[in-house]
Amino acid sequence: MSAVRIAPSILAADFARLSDALAAAREGGADLVHVDVMDGRFVPTLTFGWTMVEALRKATDLPLDIHLMIDRPEETLDRYLCGVQLVSVHVESTAHLHRCLERIRSGGASAGAAINPATPARALEAVTGDVDHVLVMSVNPGWGGQKFIGSTYDKIRGMKPMLSGREIPIEIDGGVTLENAAACRAAGADILVAGTSVYGQPDPPAAIRAIRRAAAAAEVAK
Ligand code: DX5
Ligand code: ZN
Repeated sequence: MSAVRIAPSILAADFARLSDALAAAREGGADLVHVDVMDGRFVPTLTFGWTMVEALRKATDLPLDIHLMIDRPEETLDRYLCGVQLVSVHVESTAHLHRCLERIRSGGASAGAAINPATPARALEAVTGDVDHVLVMSVNPGWGGQKFIGSTYDKIRGMKPMLSGREIPIEIDGGVTLENAAACRAAGADILVAGTSVYGQPDPPAAIRAIRRAAAAAEVAK
């Protein structure tokens, strides 16, 4: 099992001070910066699009982890493939999941399929050979600061046999905190996304380090 990766989500940061958020991620030793792209249709919230992703790409040397919460991602996907490391598309958002995954890969990023809390893990079965990571939502997408949905642990555990054979990291997104980081890791999550529990804290770099320590404790306990 490879080391856990921590991905602070800038959704919870001050949008007028995103360069400070990137600096805090770097200072805290984040592995990735999680960027929530929301279109106001797939989810009610509207955040930002590819021009912002391009700007973020230029502003940090940390790998970017792009979470597309947009309808019909196949229409604009290519614009996000601007040197980012991971891109995830929701299985619920497209009739062309396979094509989206292929395009992400050919654009040089890790291709991820994301599933909402009400979507069963078996929705990923047909694409296990086409994904490089999976993203499991542990809250309903659209907002930060929601409560973690406890059934996500079993969902992740249940996925393991389906993903076995290849190293496919599981990313968990939503409601991850210092308190549940170890349980997320113990259930099998490899990438922990943390928004409020990083940028909602007085010292975001310290929060990143604390979440990593908590998750790593689960590795030792195994
Ligand atoms: C929710 C987003 C999450 C969000 C997580 O739709 O996909 O990435 O930023 O925020 P927290 O960690 O506050 O639940
Ligand atoms: Zn996200």
